[in-house]
Amino acid sequence: MEKVVVSLGGSVLVPGDDDARYLAELAALLRDTSRHVRLFIVTGGGRTARYYIETGRALGIPERTLDEFGIAATRLNARLLAASLRGAANREPATTYAEAAMLGRRRRIVIMGGTRPGHTTDRVSASLARHVKAARIVNATSVDGVYTADPKKESRARLLPRVSFEELVRLSGERHAAAGPNVVFDPVAARVLARDRIPLAVVQGRDLDALRSAILGEPFHGTRVGD
Ligand code: UTP
Repeated sequence: MEKVVVSLGGSVLVPGDDDARYLAELAALLRDTSRHVRLFIVTGGGRTARYYIETGRALGIPERTLDEFGIAATRLNARLLAASLRGAANREPATTYAEAAMLGRRRRIVIMGGTRPGHTTDRVSASLARHVKAARIVNATSVDGVYTADPKKESRARLLPRVSFEELVRLSGERHAAAGPNVVFDPVAARVLARDRIPLAVVQGRDLDALRSAILGEPFHGTRVGD
């Protein structure tokens, strides 16, 4: 069975917008698609992570500790999704790639959050995809694809339906600088994908049709990153 890693942004899971209903629909979608592909879901920290990171930073807490707050938030979101799946996935998020791979041998859906300080869950997704030899990664995020510029700031920004690995690296910018950056895809993660040539689909995670199609490897609304 093909393996697919889904990087599920916290901004998609828990933005505070009818989240319980979305989670129920998402859980149904994941159960359904897991009959066709083996799913590895990596949850982001979203506004919960941002709250703790920003409050901690204002207190002068070191960046490494702020990253640990972020990781805790990603795992809390992982537990919320796991509980929504009612037994279809592991209850406690995997904390290493080896553990996730092992869980994937007997489960159709594996859930994990962050791993170590110094990166984001996009990077976790890229490394996990490499580890389990996934066919592709789906980045379920708050925008509907990769744009020429930030669509929230630049009204003339254009959606790019296809992007090469090299363009993704260029558009993602520099390396992980500090806890909680807000870029299209973690720049370090983009480099991992470019090196291993792992295809990436970027979709708006609340668009369940796009998410379903991208998971199953069918045409979708969003951006396809590949050769
Ligand atoms: P996210 O992966 O949610 O980062 O991790 P993000 O880019 O801010 O999130 P979205 O996509 O907009 O939801 C939140 C924070 O947790 C720490 C980092 O500080 C990161 O910015 N973190 C996360 C780690 O240090 N290591 C990890 O493995 C995961």
